[in-house]
Amino acid sequence: MRGRFLSLEGGEGAGKSTQVRALAAALQARGLTARITREPGGSEGAEAIRVLLMQGDAGRWSARSEALLFAAARADHVEKVIGPAIERGEWVICDRYLDSSRAYQGAAGGIADADVRALHAFGSAGLLPDRTYVLTLPSEVGAQRTIARDGVGADRFAARDAAFHDAVAAAFDRIAADEPARVRRIDATRTPDDVTAAILADLAPWLA
Ligand code: TYD
Repeated sequence: MRGRFLSLEGGEGAGKSTQVRALAAALQARGLTARITREPGGSEGAEAIRVLLMQGDAGRWSARSEALLFAAARADHVEKVIGPAIERGEWVICDRYLDSSRAYQGAAGGIADADVRALHAFGSAGLLPDRTYVLTLPSEVGAQRTIARDGVGADRFAARDAAFHDAVAAAFDRIAADEPARVRRIDATRTPDDVTAAILADLAPWLA
């Protein structure tokens, strides 16, 4: 039986990594095999590309080069890790996926959504998650949480300004509105346990 592919999305500080772990633990407690992974990265080749993407100054890559690097990393991740795991019947929970490229390189970076999707069609046969959760949080709260965790300007992306992060948040909202069957918004201002419970409630039909 084919497994399920879930992605978690949202701006910085929304608590995605915590939720990815909590969700995997909850699925494993139900006897399912759940694998955690992340982007950029998740396979050996994609982790090597991640180093290129995350280090250096904010202007190291143009939006186009950046979109290609993310798409290349994703292609390797899908081919080597995500695809085979789904085929084995596992649940795959990915910390960020294609919608991050649509929001960061697309809406906030100025690349057309159709171009981001075309790269994904070529690189990863257009593979989409069965369900995507967008964790929503006012961007000031996310920024404060990130600074508390990582310090100021910890990587090339966190160092970008409020307008950039607002554009990212607006893009995630738009994607959720446009694709309601796949994408669900989850209020991330609540406690981590409440956020996990909300996601599990949404997944209930698949867990019965
Ligand atoms: P990461 O340290 O994994 O952080 P976070 O906790 O915010 O998820 O950083 C990943 C950064 O890469 C994040 O700022 C978003 C950005 N990103 C893109 O711009 N495009 C993409 O396709 C992906 C997957 C991530």
